[in-house]
Amino acid sequence: MKSVAVDPFFWKDKKVFLTGHTGFKGAWLSLWLASMGAKVTGYALAPDTTPSLFSVLGIGFLIKKSHIADIRDLVSLQKAMSEAKPDVVIHMAAQPLVRYSYANPVETYATNVMGTVHALESTRYIDSVRATVVVTTDKCYENKEWAWGYRENEPMGGYDPYSNSKGCAELVTSAYRQSYFSSPNSINKIASARAGNVIGGGDWSEDRLIPDAIKAFQANVPLIIRNPLATRPWQHVLEPLSGYLILAQALYEQGSAFASGWNFGPHDEDNRSVQEVVDLLISGWGDSARWEKEGSEQPHEANLLKLDCSKARSQLGWIPKWNLQTAVQKIVEWQKAYQAKESMQEVSLAQINHYMSSK
Ligand SMILES: NC(=O)c1ccc[n+]([C@@H]2O[C@H](COP(=O)([O-])OP(=O)(O)OC[C@H]3O[C@@H](n4cnc5c(N)ncnc54)[C@H](O)[C@@H]3O)[C@@H](O)[C@H]2O)c1
Repeated sequence: MKSVAVDPFFWKDKKVFLTGHTGFKGAWLSLWLASMGAKVTGYALAPDTTPSLFSVLGIGFLIKKSHIADIRDLVSLQKAMSEAKPDVVIHMAAQPLVRYSYANPVETYATNVMGTVHALESTRYIDSVRATVVVTTDKCYENKEWAWGYRENEPMGGYDPYSNSKGCAELVTSAYRQSYFSSPNSINKIASARAGNVIGGGDWSEDRLIPDAIKAFQANVPLIIRNPLATRPWQHVLEPLSGYLILAQALYEQGSAFASGWNFGPHDEDNRSVQEVVDLLISGWGDSARWEKEGSEQPHEANLLKLDCSKARSQLGWIPKWNLQTAVQKIVEWQKAYQAKESMQEVSLAQINHYMSSK
């Protein structure tokens, strides 16, 4: 199958309900959707970093409506979604950090599991919705620490509360799909999307490799790395976002054939160690950027994690466009433009346009 691109004509005037729009992926996706003429209603907590990509890009002014509210509040979510009458729902609000989840398991499960129940439950009573994409993660699979990529039909699992909560969110999605959305009369089709570690400009989250690295380089101190040899499926943030958009369009236009789980990961050669990614970033950043290994013992995190994305490639026509080198280059370009106080909406839109025209 030949590669399929995000289709701006499809998204023009589509009503999209996006949870998690104040976060890193959500802000990029809001900008992308708004640039294609979609009418986005966002639902999320206020940004929890200063600065935040949401405020730097002025997302609150760009989209149709921004609800600052909690996904754990079913009544509030139902009200916001029924007012928006969306064509498409993309659910990505979550507590997304592994180490935070060890310290706050109850909050992580409440947000990630019951948040998904609430998002799907809300769509049950709104007859405008024709496509729903639930965003989980590559960490939802039972990790066997093996060299092969996980396929969509492998068992869910998760050692730590975050990964496990996303495995649970997958099970919730599957139960809702079978119980409420599988009859031929149901117009809402539901899929889940499992992507790898995303990187890109404008991520200020705590406890993530690229934001930690940029902070350390700017402060001229060494970056401390917990697990330099751990490999991850690294990808630029626009890669999985393009997967979510292509998947939502396929659900909307072609229905139940696409209502299942989908992996969106990088090409095999971009499953690289933390150390390799940092070395690439250091060579792009220059100055006196450097790293050191963390000395103290750390909570368990998977060492080997890879996705098999043959299904997305062969059935959806989704193929990664930017390799790791380009992704890192785009981060350096974005962060240097931010330091130089350029218009970050323009810089980010230029990156989106470059991505869309890449083969
Ligand atoms: N960043 C990655 O590397 C990565 C990898 C795989 C999957 N994901 C998934 O992608 C999604 C987005 O991640 P991100 O990197 O943008 O994270 P982020 O922390 O930047 O954003 C999370 C979003 O969820 C919202 N949120 C959190 N708790 C909420 C609550 N109780 N009520 C309403 N909104 C709430 C936040 O306000 C924010 O808008 C998440 O589902 C995450 O698990 C991220």
